[in-house]
Amino acid sequence: MSSVAIEQSGPKAVPRDVVVRADGVEKTFDGGVVALEGASFDVHKGEFVSVLGPSGCGKSTLLRLVAGLIERTGGSLTAYGTEVTAPRADIAMMFQRPTLLPWKTALDNVLLPTLIERRPTKEDRERAIGLLRLTGLTDFEFAYPQHLSGGMQQRVALARLLNAGADLLLLDEPFGALDEFTRERLNLELLRIQREIHATIMFVTHNIAEAVFLSDKVLVMTPRPGRLAAEIDVPFARPRAIELTATPEFNALVLKIRDILGSRS
Ligand SMILES: Nc1ncnc2c1ncn2[C@@H]1O[C@H](COP(=O)(O)OP(=O)(O)O)[C@@H](O)[C@H]1O
Ligand SMILES: [Mg+2]
Repeated sequence: MSSVAIEQSGPKAVPRDVVVRADGVEKTFDGGVVALEGASFDVHKGEFVSVLGPSGCGKSTLLRLVAGLIERTGGSLTAYGTEVTAPRADIAMMFQRPTLLPWKTALDNVLLPTLIERRPTKEDRERAIGLLRLTGLTDFEFAYPQHLSGGMQQRVALARLLNAGADLLLLDEPFGALDEFTRERLNLELLRIQREIHATIMFVTHNIAEAVFLSDKVLVMTPRPGRLAAEIDVPFARPRAIELTATPEFNALVLKIRDILGSRS
Protein backbone atom coordinates (compact mmCIF):
# COMPACT_ATOMS: atom_id res chain seq x y z
CA MET A 1 0.00 0.00 0.00
CA SER A 2 1.34 3.41 -0.93
CA SER A 3 1.47 5.80 2.01
CA VAL A 4 1.54 8.97 -0.07
CA ALA A 5 -1.31 10.06 -2.32
CA ILE A 6 -0.28 12.09 -5.35
CA GLU A 7 -2.42 14.98 -6.58
CA GLN A 8 -2.74 14.58 -10.32
CA SER A 9 -4.01 18.07 -11.12
CA GLY A 10 -1.03 20.35 -11.79
CA PRO A 11 2.11 19.86 -13.84
CA LYS A 12 4.18 19.94 -10.63
CA ALA A 13 2.30 17.38 -8.55
CA VAL A 14 2.84 17.78 -4.81
CA PRO A 15 2.16 14.76 -2.59
CA ARG A 16 -0.86 15.46 -0.38
CA ASP A 17 1.02 15.09 2.88
CA VAL A 18 3.53 17.77 1.90
CA VAL A 19 2.58 21.02 3.66
CA VAL A 20 5.54 23.17 2.61
CA ARG A 21 7.64 22.58 -0.47
CA ALA A 22 10.61 24.89 -1.03
CA ASP A 23 12.45 24.52 -4.31
CA GLY A 24 15.52 26.70 -4.71
CA VAL A 25 14.06 29.51 -2.60
CA GLU A 26 16.24 32.62 -2.61
CA LYS A 27 16.11 35.95 -0.85
CA THR A 28 18.45 38.80 -1.72
CA PHE A 29 17.55 42.00 0.09
CA ASP A 30 17.73 45.43 -1.58
CA GLY A 31 21.35 46.41 -1.17
CA GLY A 32 22.58 42.96 -2.11
CA VAL A 33 22.62 40.92 1.12
CA VAL A 34 22.03 37.30 0.13
CA ALA A 35 20.02 36.20 3.19
CA LEU A 36 19.04 32.87 1.69
CA GLU A 37 20.64 31.02 -1.18
CA GLY A 38 18.68 28.34 -3.01
CA ALA A 39 16.99 26.41 -0.18
CA SER A 40 15.08 23.23 -1.07
CA PHE A 41 13.16 21.11 1.45
CA ASP A 42 9.76 19.63 2.27
CA VAL A 43 7.74 19.82 5.47
CA HIS A 44 5.20 17.04 5.87
CA LYS A 45 1.84 17.14 7.61
CA GLY A 46 2.20 16.83 11.37
CA GLU A 47 5.97 17.16 11.25
CA PHE A 48 8.00 19.20 13.73
CA VAL A 49 10.83 20.79 11.74
CA SER A 50 13.50 22.96 13.34
CA VAL A 51 15.44 25.62 11.49
CA LEU A 52 18.83 25.71 13.21
CA GLY A 53 21.87 27.91 12.78
CA PRO A 54 23.89 30.81 14.16
CA SER A 55 22.75 34.41 14.16
CA GLY A 56 22.46 35.91 10.69
CA CYS A 57 22.23 32.66 8.71
CA GLY A 58 18.75 33.47 7.41
CA LYS A 59 16.45 31.55 9.78
CA SER A 60 14.01 34.42 10.28
CA THR A 61 14.17 35.26 6.60
CA LEU A 62 13.21 31.67 5.75
CA LEU A 63 10.26 31.70 8.15
CA ARG A 64 9.06 35.09 6.96
CA LEU A 65 9.17 33.81 3.38
CA VAL A 66 7.04 30.80 4.33
CA ALA A 67 4.65 33.14 6.18
CA GLY A 68 4.30 35.28 3.07
CA LEU A 69 5.52 38.34 4.98
CA ILE A 70 8.34 39.04 2.51
CA GLU A 71 8.76 38.22 -1.17
CA ARG A 72 11.33 35.74 -2.38
CA THR A 73 13.70 36.77 -5.15
CA GLY A 74 13.94 33.28 -6.65
CA GLY A 75 12.70 29.71 -6.54
CA SER A 76 9.31 28.22 -5.78
CA LEU A 77 7.61 27.98 -2.40
CA THR A 78 4.23 26.33 -1.90
CA ALA A 79 2.10 25.71 1.17
CA TYR A 80 -0.71 23.16 0.86
CA GLY A 81 0.06 22.98 -2.86
CA THR A 82 -0.35 26.67 -3.72
CA GLU A 83 2.37 29.30 -4.13
CA VAL A 84 2.88 31.54 -1.10
CA THR A 85 2.53 35.14 -2.25
CA ALA A 86 1.04 36.87 0.82
CA PRO A 87 0.07 36.13 4.43
CA ARG A 88 -2.79 33.61 4.59
CA ALA A 89 -5.23 32.15 7.07
CA ASP A 90 -3.79 28.62 7.05
CA ILE A 91 -0.33 29.84 8.19
CA ALA A 92 0.32 31.58 11.52
CA MET A 93 3.56 32.98 12.91
CA MET A 94 4.78 33.73 16.41
CA PHE A 95 7.81 35.81 17.39
CA GLN A 96 10.28 35.98 20.27
CA ARG A 97 8.42 38.89 21.89
CA PRO A 98 4.85 38.18 22.95
CA THR A 99 3.42 41.43 21.47
CA LEU A 100 0.32 41.28 23.65
CA LEU A 101 -1.95 44.30 23.98
CA PRO A 102 -1.26 45.55 27.55
CA TRP A 103 -4.74 47.01 28.04
CA LYS A 104 -6.47 43.73 27.25
CA THR A 105 -6.83 40.68 29.50
CA ALA A 106 -5.23 37.35 28.62
CA LEU A 107 -8.62 36.15 27.36
CA ASP A 108 -9.18 39.21 25.16
CA ASN A 109 -5.66 38.90 23.77
CA VAL A 110 -6.41 35.30 22.79
CA LEU A 111 -9.65 36.50 21.20
CA LEU A 112 -7.90 39.05 18.95
CA PRO A 113 -7.91 36.83 15.84
CA THR A 114 -11.65 36.33 16.37
CA LEU A 115 -12.27 40.07 16.90
CA ILE A 116 -10.84 40.80 13.45
CA GLU A 117 -13.74 38.79 12.00
CA ARG A 118 -16.66 39.32 14.36
CA ARG A 119 -17.89 40.13 17.83
CA PRO A 120 -16.85 37.06 19.90
CA THR A 121 -19.71 34.72 20.77
CA LYS A 122 -20.06 32.63 23.91
CA GLU A 123 -18.58 29.70 21.96
CA ASP A 124 -15.60 31.83 20.88
CA ARG A 125 -14.95 32.75 24.51
CA GLU A 126 -15.23 29.13 25.63
CA ARG A 127 -12.83 28.06 22.92
CA ALA A 128 -10.35 30.77 23.98
CA ILE A 129 -10.62 29.70 27.63
CA GLY A 130 -9.96 26.13 26.48
CA LEU A 131 -6.84 27.29 24.62
CA LEU A 132 -5.60 29.10 27.73
CA ARG A 133 -6.13 25.85 29.62
CA LEU A 134 -4.23 23.99 26.89
CA THR A 135 -1.26 26.35 27.29
CA GLY A 136 -1.33 26.00 31.08
CA LEU A 137 -3.11 29.23 32.02
CA THR A 138 -6.27 28.00 33.74
CA ASP A 139 -7.52 30.76 36.08
CA PHE A 140 -5.51 33.52 34.38
CA GLU A 141 -8.20 34.51 31.84
CA PHE A 142 -8.72 37.95 33.36
CA ALA A 143 -5.11 38.78 34.19
CA TYR A 144 -3.44 41.65 32.36
CA PRO A 145 -0.07 41.04 30.62
CA GLN A 146 1.93 43.18 33.08
CA HIS A 147 0.84 40.86 35.89
CA LEU A 148 2.11 37.77 34.07
CA SER A 149 5.69 36.45 33.91
CA GLY A 150 7.52 36.39 30.57
CA GLY A 151 6.80 32.68 30.23
CA MET A 152 3.11 33.19 30.95
CA GLN A 153 2.94 36.00 28.41
CA GLN A 154 4.36 33.66 25.77
CA ARG A 155 1.75 31.08 26.77
CA VAL A 156 -0.93 33.70 26.05
CA ALA A 157 0.74 34.47 22.72
CA LEU A 158 0.77 30.74 21.92
CA ALA A 159 -2.93 30.41 22.81
CA ARG A 160 -3.66 33.39 20.57
CA LEU A 161 -1.65 31.78 17.77
CA LEU A 162 -3.69 28.58 18.17
CA ASN A 163 -6.92 30.61 18.12
CA ALA A 164 -6.02 31.85 14.64
CA GLY A 165 -6.97 28.33 13.50
CA ALA A 166 -3.99 27.80 11.19
CA ASP A 167 -2.68 24.29 10.47
CA LEU A 168 0.90 25.43 9.90
CA LEU A 169 2.57 27.15 12.86
CA LEU A 170 5.78 29.12 12.33
CA LEU A 171 7.60 29.82 15.59
CA ASP A 172 10.62 32.15 15.43
CA GLU A 173 12.61 31.53 18.64
CA PRO A 174 9.31 31.72 20.54
CA PHE A 175 10.85 31.10 23.95
CA GLY A 176 14.27 32.59 23.19
CA ALA A 177 13.89 35.53 25.57
CA LEU A 178 13.02 33.28 28.53
CA ASP A 179 15.31 31.67 31.08
CA GLU A 180 16.51 28.14 30.37
CA PHE A 181 14.18 26.40 32.85
CA THR A 182 11.08 28.15 31.57
CA ARG A 183 12.14 27.52 27.99
CA GLU A 184 12.59 23.80 28.63
CA ARG A 185 9.15 23.55 30.24
CA LEU A 186 7.47 25.41 27.44
CA ASN A 187 9.23 23.24 24.87
CA LEU A 188 7.82 20.13 26.55
CA GLU A 189 4.37 21.68 26.58
CA LEU A 190 4.68 22.64 22.95
CA LEU A 191 5.28 18.96 22.11
CA ARG A 192 2.25 17.96 24.17
CA ILE A 193 0.09 20.58 22.46
CA GLN A 194 1.29 19.49 19.04
CA ARG A 195 0.27 15.92 19.86
CA GLU A 196 -3.19 17.13 20.87
CA ILE A 197 -3.90 19.38 17.91
CA HIS A 198 -1.84 17.60 15.19
CA ALA A 199 -0.28 20.85 13.99
CA THR A 200 2.61 21.10 11.56
CA ILE A 201 5.38 23.20 13.08
CA MET A 202 8.47 25.02 11.83
CA PHE A 203 10.54 26.16 14.79
CA VAL A 204 13.58 28.47 14.69
CA THR A 205 16.34 28.02 17.23
CA HIS A 206 20.10 28.43 17.55
CA ASN A 207 20.31 25.68 20.19
CA ILE A 208 21.40 22.32 18.75
CA ALA A 209 20.13 20.13 21.61
CA GLU A 210 16.79 21.93 21.61
CA ALA A 211 16.40 21.36 17.87
CA VAL A 212 17.22 17.64 18.16
CA PHE A 213 14.97 17.12 21.18
CA LEU A 214 11.93 18.75 19.59
CA SER A 215 12.16 17.77 15.96
CA ASP A 216 11.41 15.09 13.43
CA LYS A 217 13.78 16.90 11.10
CA VAL A 218 16.41 19.61 11.53
CA LEU A 219 17.23 22.04 8.73
CA VAL A 220 20.83 23.07 9.48
CA MET A 221 21.72 26.52 8.14
CA THR A 222 25.07 28.28 7.80
CA PRO A 223 25.77 32.00 7.18
CA ARG A 224 27.46 34.22 4.57
CA PRO A 225 25.55 33.60 2.46
CA GLY A 226 22.66 32.02 4.34
CA ARG A 227 22.17 28.51 3.05
CA LEU A 228 20.69 25.18 3.98
CA ALA A 229 23.78 23.08 4.79
CA ALA A 230 22.10 19.82 5.76
CA GLU A 231 18.76 18.18 6.47
CA ILE A 232 18.99 15.80 9.44
CA ASP A 233 16.29 13.26 10.28
CA VAL A 234 15.74 12.71 14.00
CA PRO A 235 14.64 9.11 14.58
CA PHE A 236 13.71 9.14 18.30
CA ALA A 237 10.25 7.81 19.24
CA ARG A 238 7.52 10.04 20.66
CA PRO A 239 6.38 11.06 23.15
CA ARG A 240 9.83 12.17 24.26
CA ALA A 241 10.96 12.78 27.82
CA ILE A 242 13.83 15.02 28.85
CA GLU A 243 15.87 11.91 29.77
CA LEU A 244 16.35 11.38 26.05
CA THR A 245 18.92 14.19 26.11
CA ALA A 246 21.22 12.08 28.32
CA THR A 247 21.43 9.12 25.91
CA PRO A 248 24.48 8.39 23.71
CA GLU A 249 22.30 8.33 20.58
CA PHE A 250 21.01 11.81 21.31
CA ASN A 251 24.47 13.20 21.97
CA ALA A 252 25.89 11.56 18.85
CA LEU A 253 23.32 13.40 16.76
CA VAL A 254 24.06 16.70 18.54
CA LEU A 255 27.78 16.20 17.79
CA LYS A 256 27.10 15.38 14.16
CA ILE A 257 25.19 18.64 13.74
CA ARG A 258 27.84 20.58 15.67
CA ASP A 259 30.41 19.25 13.19
CA ILE A 260 28.35 20.45 10.24
CA LEU A 261 27.98 23.90 11.81
CA GLY A 262 31.60 24.06 12.96
CA SER A 263 33.08 23.19 9.61
CA ARG A 264 30.90 25.46 7.53
CA SER A 265 30.23 28.58 9.53
N1 LIG B 1 15.06 43.72 5.85
C1 LIG B 1 16.35 43.42 5.65
N2 LIG B 1 17.12 44.17 4.83
C2 LIG B 1 18.42 43.88 4.59
N3 LIG B 1 19.05 42.81 5.13
C3 LIG B 1 18.35 42.03 5.96
C4 LIG B 1 16.97 42.28 6.27
N4 LIG B 1 16.53 41.31 7.12
C5 LIG B 1 17.60 40.51 7.34
N5 LIG B 1 18.68 40.92 6.66
C6 LIG B 1 20.00 40.28 6.62
O1 LIG B 1 19.84 38.95 6.17
C7 LIG B 1 20.68 38.06 6.87
C8 LIG B 1 19.85 36.99 7.56
O2 LIG B 1 19.06 37.59 8.58
P1 LIG B 1 18.02 36.75 9.46
O3 LIG B 1 17.14 35.99 8.56
O4 LIG B 1 17.38 37.71 10.39
O5 LIG B 1 19.00 35.76 10.24
P2 LIG B 1 18.73 34.90 11.56
O6 LIG B 1 17.27 34.91 11.87
O7 LIG B 1 19.26 33.54 11.24
O8 LIG B 1 19.54 35.55 12.65
C9 LIG B 1 21.49 38.92 7.84
O9 LIG B 1 22.71 39.24 7.24
C10 LIG B 1 20.63 40.15 7.98
O10 LIG B 1 21.40 41.28 8.32
MG1 LIG C 1 16.18 35.50 13.58
